[in-house]
Amino acid sequence: MNAPAGARNNDLLQETIRKLPAKPNRQLGHLPGDYGLPVFGHTWGLLTNGPKLTESMVARYGPVFRSSALFQRSVALVGPDAARFVLLDQDQNFAARPAWNTILGGLFDNGLLLRDLDDHRSHRRALQQAFKKPVLESYCRTLNAFLAEGIGSWPVDSYFDFYPAVKKLLLDNAIESFFGDDPTRDVAPLNRAFIDMLNATLAIVRRPLPGTNWRKGVRGRRTLEAYLESQLGARKAKPGDDFFSTLCQAADDEGALNDREIIDHLLFLLFAAHDTTSSTLSSMTRILCEHPQWQERLREEFSALPDGPLQLDHFAQLPQVDGFFRETLRLHPPVPAIIRRAAKDFEWGGYALPANTAVFLPVRFNHRLPEFWSSPGTFDPERWLPGREEQKKHSFQWLPFGGGAHKCLGLHFAEMQTKIFLFHLLRSYRITADPGHKPRVRYVPLEIPGNGLPVALSRV
Ligand code: HEM
Repeated sequence: MNAPAGARNNDLLQETIRKLPAKPNRQLGHLPGDYGLPVFGHTWGLLTNGPKLTESMVARYGPVFRSSALFQRSVALVGPDAARFVLLDQDQNFAARPAWNTILGGLFDNGLLLRDLDDHRSHRRALQQAFKKPVLESYCRTLNAFLAEGIGSWPVDSYFDFYPAVKKLLLDNAIESFFGDDPTRDVAPLNRAFIDMLNATLAIVRRPLPGTNWRKGVRGRRTLEAYLESQLGARKAKPGDDFFSTLCQAADDEGALNDREIIDHLLFLLFAAHDTTSSTLSSMTRILCEHPQWQERLREEFSALPDGPLQLDHFAQLPQVDGFFRETLRLHPPVPAIIRRAAKDFEWGGYALPANTAVFLPVRFNHRLPEFWSSPGTFDPERWLPGREEQKKHSFQWLPFGGGAHKCLGLHFAEMQTKIFLFHLLRSYRITADPGHKPRVRYVPLEIPGNGLPVALSRV
């Protein structure tokens, strides 16, 4: 019997995506924009101040422009309408895998963001089982205990660098809560192996030559794979409340995930969760130091809750905490741009764009459009509260977690982790930035503090 038309189309398109050349299309001369310096393009501008580069390009060329950075030509599609067009993708013009493969390929292969169409849908359904409410409630208990203990171990009344401290805390926590119970585990080598993988995502030389970050990253992957392989039997035999156990029970359309798929998904989840949440908590902490009155407001809101740990059911009673969370992600989205590759020729904004064009949506820039946000550069969590609710003008005006088929699967986990962190931090401490260090920001690959963010905690 013949396959139904939908399935045939899916297979044809999947084949087209698979055959796209690794390098994107360079024939973009008909579009407004410029490629900057020969060979290096706008790489320097992107690395030193990406937001300023985007602002100046939009001011010069408008909402569709071509540019070049990190040895790749691409086209920006600016604004929430463009974001909806690309992310809802009703005509199936865009693919995620070829775009993300240039950064993640060889390290985080076969993660959810490196899958498209039916293959993606089926694996996403399987992974969703790890993010259902009862499972989240169980992570919530673990997170309360872990974050309270971690924050409690930080120095009081003396300055320390917040960014490396929170990064280590979150990674130790992720290894515990993603990989599950293993009393014999030595976290330090796994932590190191993962950091080596992250560093390798930025490598320009992507061959395992001696001394290169790439070689370390590939070795890091092998270390983690070997560890996870050694734990598969135990997780299947005695499942716990962790992501690893849940994936061992999960099934896609073909049935249970195989061992290779479980490990690939788990490593990708660790990747997707780690830098994004470290970036969010660092931006929040910097803002709390700049606006100490918000420390008081959030503390007061938390204090009105019943005694005990923060639970998912409490979130509805925390509108100010929620506005604070959303406003931080509006001003400082950890993923500043979403990337895709055109699988087919398409049109946008009056321009014809050929298949295999690299496309990006400048999320951070979109979050500051004056058409959608009053005084867009000002930190103002009240814009989210009843009476103002500025977020309601366009369903794609606020996209820290993306949208459409690839919308962040861990967004509720991230929200939970962030709010639990704020709860334990603010209930016990005031936080101040070291006046001797002007806060600095690094924008690539994600927005993080440029100088470690030295802060001091003092007991409330
Ligand atoms: C504040 C924290 C986070 C932010 C800002 C964030 C942001 C994003 C964004 C923008 C995307 C879409 C990328 C695209 O469409 O190209 C995404 C996808 C994804 N995120 Fe997150 N993320 C966060 C935390 C997490 C956490 C904690 C997890 C897991 C525990 C996670 C798992 C994923 C996964 C699996 C995908 C791929 C979804 C798919 O392809 O269907 N994220 N995230």
